Amino acid sequence: MNAQKSAVGKTHGLDRILAMEIVRVTERAAIAAARFRGRGDEKAADEAAAKAMRTELDKLPIRGTVVIGEGEQDETPTLYIGETLGKGGPEVDIALDPLEGTTVCAKNLPNALSVIAVAAKGSLLFSPNVYMQKIAIGPGYPDGVVHIDAPAKENIENLAKAKGVPVGEITACILDRPRHSRLIDAVRGAGAAIRLIGDGDVAGIIHATEPGETGVDIYLGSGGASEGVLAAAALRCIGGQMQGRLILDSPEKKLRAARMGISDFEKIYSAEDMARGDVIFAATGITDGNLLAGVRFGRDVITTETIVLRSSSRTVREIRARHRDLERL
Ligand code: FBP
Repeated sequence: MNAQKSAVGKTHGLDRILAMEIVRVTERAAIAAARFRGRGDEKAADEAAAKAMRTELDKLPIRGTVVIGEGEQDETPTLYIGETLGKGGPEVDIALDPLEGTTVCAKNLPNALSVIAVAAKGSLLFSPNVYMQKIAIGPGYPDGVVHIDAPAKENIENLAKAKGVPVGEITACILDRPRHSRLIDAVRGAGAAIRLIGDGDVAGIIHATEPGETGVDIYLGSGGASEGVLAAAALRCIGGQMQGRLILDSPEKKLRAARMGISDFEKIYSAEDMARGDVIFAATGITDGNLLAGVRFGRDVITTETIVLRSSSRTVREIRARHRDLERL
């Protein structure tokens, strides 16, 4: 048994306990953010979610280090990369995004989530806050059916063949950004459909793991590296393939990456490289989405929907909670 295994591994059962405890963390952050839904104030929503998440994290029996957080230490007062959280216990890595989709929350559009992943110390990719090129598909395909460096047409055709459907029945999810215009043309040129999303590529990548439910077969394009690591943690629990490469296109970004221990600036990371060992992942809906309903505020009750995933058992828990201690929320 190595030290990492004992931290979150099955041996001590901490991942089982944390998988339940961690639900409160994303629930509270989601409720805090949802109070600002549709109010056009991204900053207020993000700050409220971060504050609520930090308060709950500090109640957990862990000594957690934020490896993916709200930013680097000089960029954010709380939940910064390197911050330690928890009331003490086994050492773990924490990747978090209290409000994934600040703009969609501010506009009350679909798929804003509160997200967290926890794994043994040293298991989650310690990455600077830069862009990452990403490709992801769901479980059940042979290894290597798609590749981050292959042309979009080739990936789409190989995926369609592996799925046993015509190319016209494949749908790719891509962030609606000018930087993706050539990718969008290539995917449409190959004959596939596209679901263009305004924001939220953690949800986008998770959607690709359940094509039957969501209609999305593949995720393509670049987004935040933080969101890439969080999505990789989810994929480790649900299954599926993902590749990501940090976009370190300036000496300054390379320097930041080097400070975090990254020496190969072109490395293609698999989901396993980004989130190793036993991983726990939780996400609570802030606004309604394909995956989760958003927070509902009733007169006497607040309702939340959360998924909690554990890589060691591949359990997918869907938790619908009714919160009645309203004065604390
Ligand atoms: P935020 O919650 O930080 O606003 O991130 C939303 C998001 O859409 C991510 O899901 C995605 O990875 C990233 O922004 C893409 O960045 P950009 O908006 O700069 O294209």
